[in-house]
Amino acid sequence: MAYFDGPGGSQAPRAVIDAVAGYLERSNANAGGAFASSRETDELLAAAHGAAADLVGAKPGEIAFGANMTTLNFLLSHAVARTCAPGDEIVVTQLDHDANVSPWFRAAEDRDLVVRVAPIRAGDGTLDHDALEALIGERTRVVAFTLASNALGNVPDARRLAAAAHRVGALAWADGVHLAPHRRIDRDALGLDVVLCSPYKFFGPHLGLAAIRSELAERLPADRVRAASSEPPGHRFEAGTLNHEALAGTVAAIDYLAGLASGGGGGTDADEGAEPDTHGSRRRARLDSAYEAIRVHEESLAGRFLEQIPAISGLRLHGLADPGAVAERTPTFLIEIEGHPPREVAAALGRRGMFAWDGDFYAPAPLRLLGLGPEGGVRIGFLHYNAAAEVDALLEALAEIAAGRDAELAVAG
Ligand SMILES: Cc1ncc(COP(=O)(O)O)c(C=O)c1O
Repeated sequence: MAYFDGPGGSQAPRAVIDAVAGYLERSNANAGGAFASSRETDELLAAAHGAAADLVGAKPGEIAFGANMTTLNFLLSHAVARTCAPGDEIVVTQLDHDANVSPWFRAAEDRDLVVRVAPIRAGDGTLDHDALEALIGERTRVVAFTLASNALGNVPDARRLAAAAHRVGALAWADGVHLAPHRRIDRDALGLDVVLCSPYKFFGPHLGLAAIRSELAERLPADRVRAASSEPPGHRFEAGTLNHEALAGTVAAIDYLAGLASGGGGGTDADEGAEPDTHGSRRRARLDSAYEAIRVHEESLAGRFLEQIPAISGLRLHGLADPGAVAERTPTFLIEIEGHPPREVAAALGRRGMFAWDGDFYAPAPLRLLGLGPEGGVRIGFLHYNAAAEVDALLEALAEIAAGRDAELAVAG
C-alpha cells in the first residue's frame, strides 16, 4: 500500500499503537485517585501537556486538549465572541479549512460581529496578504488564518499576518493542522496567540489540541462545572474527562517525531526512528532537527513529483507548480484528470493500492475560485514515510489513468 492520504489523516507508528493499547491495559483510570493506575493517569496528563507544548513551542499550562480541532475551535471562538462588542470584526481567509471559518461565522451570528474574508489569488491559489492586511482595522479582534493549505499545500507568511493582527491589538489565530506533520511550528517565533493542531495528522490518535497564550486563556470565559479544579495540568478549556488513551498515543507520536532527528526523514517504515525521549529542551532540540530531516526528504519528493507532472497529458495541477520552489509549500497537491471525475481517479488509484482523497477537503472556497466543479479534485499528500519509489509508481499510475489505459475505467467509459 502507498498512503498519499496524509492530509486527511496519517498512519500511526507501532510506538503510538502500543502506547494507546498499553494505557488501556495497564493504566486505565480516572485522574486524581490514590491508587497506582490513577497516579499513572495523572502523570500521563502532565506528560501530554508537556509533549504538546514542546511540539508547538508553548508552555505545558497553555495546552488544552479536546475531541478534535473543529470542536476546540467552536468552543474557543465562542469564548472570544463573548468578549467582543457588536460590530467588532473577525478576519478569516478563503484559503482555510472550514474548521477555521465556520466557527467564526457562527460566533458572529450570536454576537452581531462582522466577518471579513481575505481572498486568495485566482491564478495559483495563494493567499493575498496585502488584501488581508487591508481588511484589518480598528475594530478587528481576531485574524484567523491557516499555517498551510490542506487543499493546495501553500504556506502563508504567518509571521507577517500575526504582526498585522497585533498592530491593531487583534489576536493571531492559527490553524496548524496541515502544517504540523511537515514543519516545525514555533508559536513564539511566529507570534501566534492561538495555534490548533490534530494529533491524527501527525502520526497520533484522533484528538485535537490548542495552545492558548496564558494571558488570553485566563481572561476568556470558559464553561466549567463548579466542582472542576483549575489546577494544572488540566486546562480551563478542558471540561470533563479527556481521552486518556489518545493522550498516551499523542505523547508517543511526539516522541516518535523527535526520534526522527537522528534517523533522517526517509523510508516507508513509519516505525523507524521511534524511540522514547525526554521532555523539555532536549526534546525541543530533537524536534528541530527531526523537522529539518522531514523537510529535506519531503522537498525531494515534491520536486520529483512536480518535475514529472507536466509530462502527463490531460492532468492538471492546481496551485504552486514550480519544482524549484518546493520550500514554499507542503508536499500536498490538488490535481484533476480530464474526462475522469475525481472519485473515479481516486478509485482507480485505490485499486492499485494507492490511497488518495477526492472532494473539496472542507476547503470549498479555494476549489471554487480555481474553477473546480462540485466534485472537487484529487488530493495527493506525501508525508515523510513516503519513498521516492512510491512517487514514481504514482506518476506511472496517473499517466495510465490519464491515457485511458486503466482497464476498469475504459470499460466504464
Ligand atoms: C487544515 C485543517 N484544519 C482543520 C481540520 C479539522 O481538524 P479536525 O478533524 O481535528 O477537526 C482539518 C481536517 O482535515 C484540516 O485539514
